[in-house]
Amino acid sequence: NKELQDSLKRKAAVKAADYVENGMIVGLGSGSTVTMLVDELGRRVQKDGLQFTGVATSISTAQQAKSLGIKIVDLDMVDAIDLTIDGADEVDSHFNGIKGGGGNLLWEKIVAINSKKIIWVVDQSKVVDTIGAFHLAVDVIPLGSQHLLKKFDDAGLKPVIRIGKDDHPFKTDSNNLIIDLHLQKIEEAKKLADYLIKTVGVVEHGLFLNMVDTVIVGKEGTPQVLT
Ligand code: A5P
Repeated sequence: NKELQDSLKRKAAVKAADYVENGMIVGLGSGSTVTMLVDELGRRVQKDGLQFTGVATSISTAQQAKSLGIKIVDLDMVDAIDLTIDGADEVDSHFNGIKGGGGNLLWEKIVAINSKKIIWVVDQSKVVDTIGAFHLAVDVIPLGSQHLLKKFDDAGLKPVIRIGKDDHPFKTDSNNLIIDLHLQKIEEAKKLADYLIKTVGVVEHGLFLNMVDTVIVGKEGTPQVLT
């Protein structure tokens, strides 16, 4: 149930906030778990005088952080990010994960590859044996996207153009579209990732393979820290 899941997400998010230290450049992910993290960091900035600089992975995270008094700069303003904390939709025991449920995978991946350390915050329901039950988001250029949809369909990838809250195609923060692949099980993630990134019109995909250093799992009792 959602209430329990939210409380487990919050536990993981609050635990992850401990990793943020004065003076750090911190990548701030996106999604509901990260919203809880940013709330906690904002509280510490205001109450404890915590000082750090954030780099946001979405317009909404940037807005939330700024509204709480967290300093946000552009990625190109910093040399490197000390630590990025982000959510995920699924993660397996090899730290292969799916992200992009919120549609922010492109900015999230750009921030991730420029980070010295990455922590994911998830509730226990997202830790799986095999990834793929969650739909895999592919960020695509709008031009020719119907042809891409057909190509993915022919390849058996069960593609669907993501629809936004307004019943129109969902637009990312870079004004791209999302094609969701409903694969159920992804056995050969590396092969799929290679195929997707080589396909013209694809900008990025939501497979984050072995990029994360630490996963903090919200569960009953204290959160579990996987390294
Ligand atoms: C955003 O595009 C995603 O990658 C999120 O990080 C992911 O969907 C996790 O979101 P929740 O914290 O809302 O579950």
